[in-house]
Amino acid sequence: MLVLLVALSWGTAISAGTLLGSKHDFTGLNKRTGVVAMPTVAFSDYGSPCVYCHIPPDREGKDSGEKGGITGWNRNRPATDTYDLYDSRTLDNKVRTPSPISLLCLSCHDGTMAVDMTVFRPNGWRNSEDAAIHLRINGANDLMSCGKCHNGKVAHSIAIKHIGQDLTNDHPISMTYAGITHKDPDFRQPDGPYGFDNGVKLYDNRVECATCHNVHNPDITLLLREPADKLCETCHIK
Ligand code: HEC
Ligand code: HEC
Ligand code: HEC
Ligand code: HEC
Ligand code: HEC
Repeated sequence: MLVLLVALSWGTAISAGTLLGSKHDFTGLNKRTGVVAMPTVAFSDYGSPCVYCHIPPDREGKDSGEKGGITGWNRNRPATDTYDLYDSRTLDNKVRTPSPISLLCLSCHDGTMAVDMTVFRPNGWRNSEDAAIHLRINGANDLMSCGKCHNGKVAHSIAIKHIGQDLTNDHPISMTYAGITHKDPDFRQPDGPYGFDNGVKLYDNRVECATCHNVHNPDITLLLREPADKLCETCHIK
């Protein structure tokens, strides 16, 4: 059985298959890219890459949901949580609102909120260290958007990572996996309650963004849990 070892602990150096240095590591970006642009101007560099998503250890047990956050995560709820989700006549399970673990991703990727908009700042953070402006993942050429520079000319374009609030062109999410409830013959049975032995994960029997993507492991292109050509057949039989 393949065990996906996310051997991560706070403050410890992490090797291979790590978020550190990947696209979701928002620390030290200036140094890494050799530009003096991003933190301090574009977003606050909190010094720990983990707090952009996870509740800081010193706030463990605190309910971010009480403070307008996404329960269990260190992020504010996106400006809206009504998305146009994928729908079709043939869908077994229809959903209106994404689950928290997918809202986490959308809180950056729908482009409505700043990348550094967290519920809790790390211990010792002083507001005086705050960035001048707090940009959003959005390809638009305005002072609210990373697209100001990330337009394909000054820096690589960020537009394709901006999913927006219309998810009808994307794979459906937050529905119960059809291979469980409906015993739909078009879907494989999962190998266990966590999902599939190849690492494709289910969350409370649901398909979420993190089902197919693992932000902790950049080894496969686009952070996929299985290369794109094999990913689909993990679940779909035809
Ligand atoms: C972009 C958002 C994001 C960032 C940044 C991030 N994580 Fe995660 N983390 C997640 C998601 C989503 C999951 C659940 C994924 C899964 O089930 O595999 C998770 C799961 C984990 C888990 C497993 C928890 C469990 O109950 O199984 C640990 C440990 C963890 N992260 C540690 C870290 C550490 C340490 C960092 C900083 C180096 C970090 N994460 C940065 C999104 C993030
Ligand atoms: C974790 C399992 C899983 C993986 C991996 C997966 N799918 Fe799906 N897919 C589903 C489920 C569940 C549905 C919704 C089925 C339902 O409820 O009727 C679905 C629905 C779809 C639909 C809409 C079908 C309809 O009835 O309207 C398409 C198209 C699709 N998937 C394509 C893909 C492609 C392409 C890939 C690979 C990139 C992929 N899927 C990977 C589970 C998965
Ligand atoms: C704190 C903000 C933030 C959160 C939360 C977040 N992302 Fe991202 N994500 C980004 C940024 C910024 C990039 C890089 C954009 C660029 O460089 O063009 C990115 C890039 C990606 C990419 C492309 C990686 C590549 O190699 O090109 C994928 C896939 C992705 N994110 C998926 C996710 C998923 C799935 C989640 C939820 C588990 C998530 N993201 C949560 C900010 C975020
Ligand atoms: C003032 C210009 C500027 C702004 C604003 C800016 N960036 Fe960048 N960014 C750059 C340059 C230049 C690079 C290096 C060239 C490249 O990767 O395209 C870069 C690189 C990156 C990388 C790649 C880092 C790596 O290690 O591969 C990420 C991720 C990134 N930026 C995210 C963002 C996000 C998210 C925002 C908005 C919150 C943002 N940037 C705003 C100029 C900027
Ligand atoms: C069924 C599997 C699956 C699910 C669920 C899924 N993705 Fe993806 N995602 C993919 C695949 C495969 C690709 C690459 C091919 C493509 O662009 O369609 C991709 C591409 C991406 C990219 C990069 C676009 C690019 O071309 O650089 C981002 C960002 C992303 N996904 C984020 C998300 C977010 C956020 C969610 C949840 C709202 C999500 N994904 C749900 C399979 C999935």
